[in-house]
Amino acid sequence: MRVLVTGGAGFVGSNLVTHLQDQGHDVVVLDDLSAGARPAWWKRRAGPRCIEGNVEDERAARSAVKGADAVVHLAARPGVADSVARPGLDFRANVLGTFTVLDAARRAGVSRFVLASSGAVLAGATPPLREDMAPAPRSPYGASKLYGEGIVAASGVFGMTGLSLRFANVYGPNCAHKKSAIALFLRRVLAGQPITVYGTGRQTRDFLYVDDVARAIDRAIAARSPGVYHLGTGVETSVNELVRAVERAAGTKVAVRREAARAGDAARSFVDLSAARRRLRWEPRVSLDDGLGRTLEWLRSSPGVAR
Ligand SMILES: NC(=O)c1ccc[n+]([C@@H]2O[C@H](COP(=O)([O-])OP(=O)(O)OC[C@H]3O[C@@H](n4cnc5c(N)ncnc54)[C@H](O)[C@@H]3O)[C@@H](O)[C@H]2O)c1
Repeated sequence: MRVLVTGGAGFVGSNLVTHLQDQGHDVVVLDDLSAGARPAWWKRRAGPRCIEGNVEDERAARSAVKGADAVVHLAARPGVADSVARPGLDFRANVLGTFTVLDAARRAGVSRFVLASSGAVLAGATPPLREDMAPAPRSPYGASKLYGEGIVAASGVFGMTGLSLRFANVYGPNCAHKKSAIALFLRRVLAGQPITVYGTGRQTRDFLYVDDVARAIDRAIAARSPGVYHLGTGVETSVNELVRAVERAAGTKVAVRREAARAGDAARSFVDLSAARRRLRWEPRVSLDDGLGRTLEWLRSSPGVAR
């Protein structure tokens, strides 16, 4: 298939591009490079076709979707806190950008559309998070992803098969620009700096390795039916447990600085992956210990990143 990956220069995107190319897909990337990540293959002859452009721009979107069989729409401003501070930017990138790419795909006759959504559409829900829970976003970011899920669900009227995948907390290589817990923890540990834990550290998350996300997306672009799926491991890991796992992976004791809990941080989060297991025939394969080891290995082999 020819697959357009918007946001393909970013963390999830760059890992996905490699996976899709390994599977024999012909990949096109549309990214405005605003997150600051620029993979080694960007605009190299041997890499995927790369278009530097904004997903809010109709012309860029129309040029990128030409000839595509499927679109994986990852381009977004991904932060909850950022979306509260600058909701207008979140709206333009995540709502207008999603509509613009989907509309360009519709005009070009693209039949498959996969959206990167998030558990943020269910903020405050008691886990395990399931697809039949009523959405209740508590941030502009969660609301923008809910819009995306809505228009993707409606894309059936244009003859498209649309799937929304709600990623849990994704981690893995190419995370140099990310501010998520694992990316920050590992960079600090390698730089010999203490890590910061907010609140008691008993808050839980579901940490999913990025290769598992890439395999799920590959399944989704081949799916025959539309749908919404939670992607995670189903394993609930507290931040304190994560610190111990980081110590095991790094083979060193980690200095922890404790700060007050942050407003709006969920107390618990993990997903029920039975729908993805059943209907996408997908199963995560990488354990936290293994994934942390692989991420550390990538950070160690990427000079200048661990600061
Ligand atoms: N990483 C996670 O844990 C996680 C969890 C849930 C959902 N998601 C979603 O997955 C997707 C990918 O996230 P990520 O962690 O790789 O983030 P990322 O910031 O690394 O990647 C996003 C990419 O999109 C690009 N981009 C942003 N705005 C753009 C625009 N207007 N036009 C063109 N390109 C633009 C950025 O330059 C970046 O390369 C996002 O939609 C995010 O909301 C990620």
